[in-house]
Amino acid sequence: MRYLITSALPYIHGIPHLGNFVGSIFPADVMARFLRMKGEEVLFICGSDMHGSPLEVAAFKAGRDVKEMAYENHKKIKKLMEDWLVSVDYWGHTDSEENKEITYEIFKKLDERGYIKEEEVVMPRCNNCGRVLADRWIEGTCPYCGGLARGDQCDDCGAILTPDQLINPRCVYCGSFDIEFKPIKQLVFDLPALEDELKKFYEERKHLWPEYVKKTTEWYLYKEGLKPRSISRYLNFGFPVPKEGFEDQVLYVWFDAPIGYIGITYQWAKEIGDPEAWKEWWKMPLASDVFYVQYMGKDNVFFHAIFFPAMLIGSNDWKLVDVIAATQYLTAKGVKFSKSRGVGLNLETAKELLPVEYWRYVLAALFPAHKDTEFSWDVLVEKINKELVDNISNFIYRTLSLSHRKGIDLNTPLGEEEEREIQKVRDFARRIEEAYMEFLGFNKVVSLVNQLASEGNAWLNRREPWKEEDPSRTLVVALYYVKVIALALYPILPLTMKRVLDLLGVSLSWDEVDQIRVSKVERPFKLFKRIEEAEVEKWRERFSPEEKKPSVSIDVVLNAKMMTGVVRHVQEIGGDEERWLLIIEGPDGKTYRAAPPIKKKYSPEDLKGRAILFVPLEEGVKLSGVEVNAAVPLAGDSIVVADRNVIGKVR
Ligand code: MF3
Ligand code: ZN
Repeated sequence: MRYLITSALPYIHGIPHLGNFVGSIFPADVMARFLRMKGEEVLFICGSDMHGSPLEVAAFKAGRDVKEMAYENHKKIKKLMEDWLVSVDYWGHTDSEENKEITYEIFKKLDERGYIKEEEVVMPRCNNCGRVLADRWIEGTCPYCGGLARGDQCDDCGAILTPDQLINPRCVYCGSFDIEFKPIKQLVFDLPALEDELKKFYEERKHLWPEYVKKTTEWYLYKEGLKPRSISRYLNFGFPVPKEGFEDQVLYVWFDAPIGYIGITYQWAKEIGDPEAWKEWWKMPLASDVFYVQYMGKDNVFFHAIFFPAMLIGSNDWKLVDVIAATQYLTAKGVKFSKSRGVGLNLETAKELLPVEYWRYVLAALFPAHKDTEFSWDVLVEKINKELVDNISNFIYRTLSLSHRKGIDLNTPLGEEEEREIQKVRDFARRIEEAYMEFLGFNKVVSLVNQLASEGNAWLNRREPWKEEDPSRTLVVALYYVKVIALALYPILPLTMKRVLDLLGVSLSWDEVDQIRVSKVERPFKLFKRIEEAEVEKWRERFSPEEKKPSVSIDVVLNAKMMTGVVRHVQEIGGDEERWLLIIEGPDGKTYRAAPPIKKKYSPEDLKGRAILFVPLEEGVKLSGVEVNAAVPLAGDSIVVADRNVIGKVR
């Protein structure tokens, strides 16, 4: 069996932050490293997602040429991935000639077979500047969560949207709210026509998929139902639609991006001087012995479980994915992660604070396999100081320096007690392998390794080899512990663990866990250092999410339009104990968001459907991590309830 591993191709309109990295590229890298170490043939493919409106919007806002900016960012991110020890076989990009060739091939096949249709779709057009507003060129309020949403997706809750669902839409080019929906000729991909094939595809593989991925896929296949999806866009940067009458549009980014997995494999094949080699990974039946695992964040599931498979099934006999390894989110309430502004804790700033292996350890320990996980500075310090340094590194260092110093007999025969201990370590090795082979079990791996190191430390403390006349037997067992720990952590901490294995003369192969002995012991080095609290204080400061408190000046209040509106939704604000987020429908039909500190007094049921007084703010402000544009005046700790009959401006 051969393994094909891909990670979702990151957009390049900003530097990926830790949350982006932990969700797909990092687990793909760790998995690829583990499988290679097991002796499997692995091809690990990733690269830059070049097209799409986010970058066009970013270039527009920066006054730059989009293509130039795309290539510049691509190079920068490619380099950054090396710094973060990402062991891709090739880091390509979706704007390549190779990808264009394959994208056109797939498009034409789908078209010939009647899966691509012309349709009049109603699209937003700005009456002020005259532009057709594709995807991110239109922004507004999300109808599901009230967050800031673009035409194609909500940034806050991840819901996939169409522009007509946005509440209060505005043009990103010119800021105008004067938007009209007009019919426009577009191409759509007829997903419903492939429904039976998609269901078959899903049913054949679902036993390998994580719960979350199954739930999401079933939602589309069996509940919501499939709908035709538009695949052409009025944008400037992308592959021109290869069809008469549509040359002024480009293919939708989600059309050419997943094909990028194939296109990048093609780039790789040329690079290694075997231009046909990509076919062995992608064309059936050549690729029948390939096991294909895709890594991605949870918001990408629809495109990988439905959209891309449909493109492949509908066009040719392609290798289809076996496991969709989608992750939940790494969240950070007290730390600013920012992709678009480039000032938060991202892959560039993080590696200035600590060498990347420290981060890789923490990301693996906090790996959000099946539920969202919270990152904080306290957690970082705990994971590094208590686990990585005090437990793991300390055990390795102790064992190696004692063994080195005492000049022990590495081939000494073992007694019953030692054999029992060895068996324990073997069991751990087996469980670690099982955790890896879940494809998302990296936090389990870290926790097992910590148990192993604690057991190892306990073994040393029990046997006190420093007092033993001949500590060979004790230390041979401890060295087996070290060997298994180093191999188990190699995929996560490749530099340091390779050095440890080298000191022991152990080769980089998982088969080594079956052999107890090491072949030598050289003088060890201090693996990792503790983090000082004073340093962390500085980071806390530097990356704290700045929050403007929404104080409303007297002036504003006196001139404020007080309004009465109906509370439509009441939501939690990530762990905030004081405030509810209220989504209020104003008398002008617009949606307002306020976050008054009334959580202790009112339940969502008390509030939903109620008419209350509020003040719209001139400018949106961030409060407790959410964007609000209204304030709710309180009388003591109570809201001011309005009579439903007088909804409207009261001032
Ligand atoms: N660029 C997308 C994102 O960051 C992921 C694209 S995955 C691919 O959400 F398969 F389309 F490449
Ligand atoms: Zn406009």
